[in-house]
Amino acid sequence: MKLKDKVAIVTGGSQGIGEAICRRFAKEGAKVAVVNARSPKRGQAVAKAIAEEGGAAKAYRCDVSRKAQVQGLITKVRRDLGPVDILVGNAGVMINKPMEAYSERDWDVTIAVNLKGNFLLAQAVVPLMKKRKSGKIIFISSIAGTHAFPNALPYCASKGGVHMLTRALSAEIAKFGINVNSISPGNTATPLNQHLQDNPEFVKLMASYTPTGRAYISVEEMAGAAVFLASGDASAVHGHDLVVDDGWCAM
Ligand SMILES: NC(=O)c1ccc[n+]([C@@H]2O[C@H](COP(=O)([O-])OP(=O)(O)OC[C@H]3O[C@@H](n4cnc5c(N)ncnc54)[C@H](OP(=O)(O)O)[C@@H]3O)[C@@H](O)[C@H]2O)c1
Repeated sequence: MKLKDKVAIVTGGSQGIGEAICRRFAKEGAKVAVVNARSPKRGQAVAKAIAEEGGAAKAYRCDVSRKAQVQGLITKVRRDLGPVDILVGNAGVMINKPMEAYSERDWDVTIAVNLKGNFLLAQAVVPLMKKRKSGKIIFISSIAGTHAFPNALPYCASKGGVHMLTRALSAEIAKFGINVNSISPGNTATPLNQHLQDNPEFVKLMASYTPTGRAYISVEEMAGAAVFLASGDASAVHGHDLVVDDGWCAM
């Protein structure tokens, strides 16, 4: 077990990539805080499924874009599970429209959840990690943070921000024994992009631009990358973006 007795917070843990990370972390021995905002029952179902498989998990409702809720989350997790060893900032939203159609609210929500939320989470856990001189922070970014996609302007901008959040935070706190890294998933079949999965042209295009010929990566493959960055095996990895994209960016 690579994460035995570690306390891990995984935001957006109720479905998709975050759920897979929660389940895999629990299998690796971690005590997992499954965090989401809008559908608390889904988060509770993931925590229950983990417990039924013999793992340790508890569900928490928290909107990561709200500072008071994030601070409350860290306090509750510390009380229930112990000091936080691992933070996975995975919660994200994506709104696809032509640029003229975005409302100010579309922009604000995307930046608040995808970028500010990760800053708020880091700000809440880093002082505690500094005291213990150890910690792992993993932000789930995207290939859309380095490669432009049409009809995804706020999303691309938010993920570009996550790349620099990762590097700037790492530059500041690596000396305290805290590893800050990101993962950039390629196209992964989850509820986030169901509308794109339903578009055969998009699926064909993604497969044709991917050296493996696959249109989609599995959520379990993302979870494997997260285990690596959360484990002692990544002790010398700082400020890195681990691209898990089936070679899409290489093309
Ligand atoms: N799927 C892909 O192809 C892909 C590719 C690149 C990057 N990513 C990134 O990977 C991450 C996970 O994506 P996914 O595809 O697994 O998405 P997903 O299936 O839509 O899951 C998103 C998760 O975030 C939670 N969430 C949304 N807003 C939140 C908020 N304000 N506070 C707390 N939790 C919130 C959702 O729960 P509630 O709605 O119940 O709150 C849900 O658990 C995202 O950051 C995404 O940008 C995904």
